[in-house]
Amino acid sequence: MSVLSGKKVLLGISGGIAAYKTASLVRLFIKAGAHVQVIMTPASKDFITPLTLSTLSKNPVHSSFYNEDDDSSHTGEQAKQNAEWNNHVELGLWADLILIAPATANTMSKMVNGNCDNLLIATYLSAKCPVYFAPAMDLDMYKHPSTIASFDALKSFGNFIIPAESGELASGLSGEGRMAEPENIIAFLEADLESKLPLKGKKILITAGPTYEAIDPVRFIGNHSTGKMGFDIAICASNMGAEVILVSGPTHLAVNNTNIMLIRVVSAQQMYDVCHQYYNNVDVAIAAAAVADYRPKNVANQKIKKNDAEFSIELEKTKDILASLGELKQNQFLIGFALETENEIENAKLKIQKKNLDLIVLNSLQDEGAGFGKPTNKITFIDKSFVVEPMELKSKEEVALDIINKVIQQYHA
Ligand code: CTP
Repeated sequence: MSVLSGKKVLLGISGGIAAYKTASLVRLFIKAGAHVQVIMTPASKDFITPLTLSTLSKNPVHSSFYNEDDDSSHTGEQAKQNAEWNNHVELGLWADLILIAPATANTMSKMVNGNCDNLLIATYLSAKCPVYFAPAMDLDMYKHPSTIASFDALKSFGNFIIPAESGELASGLSGEGRMAEPENIIAFLEADLESKLPLKGKKILITAGPTYEAIDPVRFIGNHSTGKMGFDIAICASNMGAEVILVSGPTHLAVNNTNIMLIRVVSAQQMYDVCHQYYNNVDVAIAAAAVADYRPKNVANQKIKKNDAEFSIELEKTKDILASLGELKQNQFLIGFALETENEIENAKLKIQKKNLDLIVLNSLQDEGAGFGKPTNKITFIDKSFVVEPMELKSKEEVALDIINKVIQQYHA
């Protein structure tokens, strides 16, 4: 999934021939899952029509301070009636990122000087989000000290320049100054956004799902865990830039994400072995699996026959994976789950100490909507200083985000 997915992108188009390429640019943003709004300078409309861009972006195109009726067939009085104030402050605040493409020498210079004579420049001056420029101009203009001064000033404001490419120019000359190709602009933005993700460079081990403990070749002791909580945490951590090792017991869930390595296991012992294989090299470990606490002491080689009126299985304890990770802990930030039915907070605090955790996520069975097979969860965070933070009933995706945000807040390695 692209890091641009779900991002609100404001595309500002200024008046250069490369404006015709913004149709592809908008399509690529939409394909990546971004929401796009377009602001055009008046000059840019000579190179591409607002109708093209509103159709591709699925949003009205903005271009003047007051006329919202740019791309409709309305004319005269009706257009005036439909006209409304285009709030540049609102547009600027809506955006997660602004891309000015093509960025002409004129527009960049006016932005540097706060010369606010069109909606795009007013929006730029109101925005608080990252702003990227994809300049496009003839080679001599691109190299002119005035243009270089604009680049320097924009960079000093914290903006980013996506270098122009070399090749044939609209003037017939050949050299540096062509707007970067739309695919390259998207790649530049993705690489830049990815490098800034809060968990970039971090490795996270996550356990998920149930474990099955064999009784004989066809029967097992298991539980109703679906694995959803652990999978949601894995997806969320990967969206924040982490490299995830997801160790899951039997579940129907799957992941299609290059940053998540899914290792499927069956028994608690297998989960233990895989966790220990990776634990030394991870920064964070989150134990969301519902591991069986006991397993049959002896596993029958053949299917057990129903010969006797009564039948009992001798059980032995499985290894506590989380506790074993707590014992080996060096710099890892270790999170466990607790499912309690009585004295929840006190029991959870004991578990933090017993298993050497940094944070525990407490589920109480007394909370309606929490637990196995439900789409929602109601949790309470307790950290190792015993600060207790009850959370609202939320979807498991939202709970996953809360957990990952806790990791980002509390983990400083
Ligand atoms: N856990 C584990 N390995 C086990 C058992 C549990 O890694 N063999 C982890 C779970 O993934 C969870 C945490 O330990 O993060 C808490 O498990 P829970 O069953 O609530 O508590 P227990 O420590 O098993 O204690 P008890 O069942 O006695 O409450």
